[in-house]
Amino acid sequence: MSFFQPLAQQPADALLALIGMFRNDPRPGKLDLGVGVFRDDAGNTPVMRSVKAAEKKLWETQDSKSYLGPEGNVAFARHMARLALGDVDLSGRLTGVQTPGGTGALRLGAELLGATKPGATVWVGTPTWPNHPPVLAAAGLKVQTYKHFDTNTQAITFDAVMDALNKAQAGDIALLHGCCHNPTGADFDLDQWKAIAELLSARGIVPFLDLAYQGLGLGMEQDAAGVRLVMDACPEAVLAYSCDKNFGVYRDRVGALIVQTAAAGDTDRISSNILALARANWSMPPDHGGAVIATLLDDATLAADWKLELDTMRDRLLGIRAALAGHGGVLGRVDQQRGMFSLLPLSPDVVKRLREDHAVYMAGSGRINVAGLSVETAGQFAKALAACL
Ligand SMILES: Cc1ncc(COP(=O)(O)O)c(C=O)c1O
Repeated sequence: MSFFQPLAQQPADALLALIGMFRNDPRPGKLDLGVGVFRDDAGNTPVMRSVKAAEKKLWETQDSKSYLGPEGNVAFARHMARLALGDVDLSGRLTGVQTPGGTGALRLGAELLGATKPGATVWVGTPTWPNHPPVLAAAGLKVQTYKHFDTNTQAITFDAVMDALNKAQAGDIALLHGCCHNPTGADFDLDQWKAIAELLSARGIVPFLDLAYQGLGLGMEQDAAGVRLVMDACPEAVLAYSCDKNFGVYRDRVGALIVQTAAAGDTDRISSNILALARANWSMPPDHGGAVIATLLDDATLAADWKLELDTMRDRLLGIRAALAGHGGVLGRVDQQRGMFSLLPLSPDVVKRLREDHAVYMAGSGRINVAGLSVETAGQFAKALAACL
């Protein structure tokens, strides 16, 4: 028997398979609502203008690629804390490191939580990003799910959220999407965030916040409002930040882990644990993306241009959402949802017929990436949908 014989075949990533099928489909007017990246009206995911300019500036000024350390680019991590949390005091109860993407931040955050309390329970509303449960489980955490969203009513099941968090014990963890919930687009409103923040603080539940789409929902400040409320209310909190989407640097893998400690005197000790865990995982994060974004945000002109580009991206998503909702039916509440994704109540058979009969490609779950449409093609999609329902 070979050494690797005990390993079972793992299922292929269905979304990656969809990319190949879409590419090989010769039909004109085919629509790709599958893969979770932003697209412009031409269907492209371009490098942002401000990012290109920052890359050029970095290329001209960077004089060494010598090692940094497990914390990565410190200026970058401070920028991420400021984007997420506003004008906060970074010398006090906050500590942060650069990570390989939001996924790296989630993994490192999960390991820190697991190192503190082995086997701790994490409460996760479902449906959620499919990578959440395996990342949490890989850190030895116990995943306890509850219902976040009802696909048929297209609304958050807020009573179920509060019920679940009321059952959680002190020292349990609550994983919460900061904004632009993946896959539903259904975000808490401010009153709901307030109620959650109060509950977490009253029950001693530790928030684990995942902010991966800031600026793609309603705006940079609005999209962080829930995260800020929770971090204000709870003494200790863990925030996984991804800037792969809002800076369009997906493959450069750019993110940060930010941890809020109960007392300023705790940060050195907790930071030393974060760095030890990072070292055991990837030694130090890849530098390029973080250096580019730090360069961009350090330059007022580039930062302003990035904000303009992000505004355009967000307006495009909101415009498509409005156009879709105008068709009513299962699309009627899509304009109440935010970011790139919505989860429609479609059976696998309907998803298959959309693909085979109408060249509309989407995840088997019924998740659509609205960025794969335009205001013009929203009607084409609505018509195809009506023909399959
Ligand atoms: C909710 C959520 N969190 C985190 C991530 C991870 O992002 P990254 O590509 O930066 O690892 C994603 C990516 O799709 C996501 O949807």
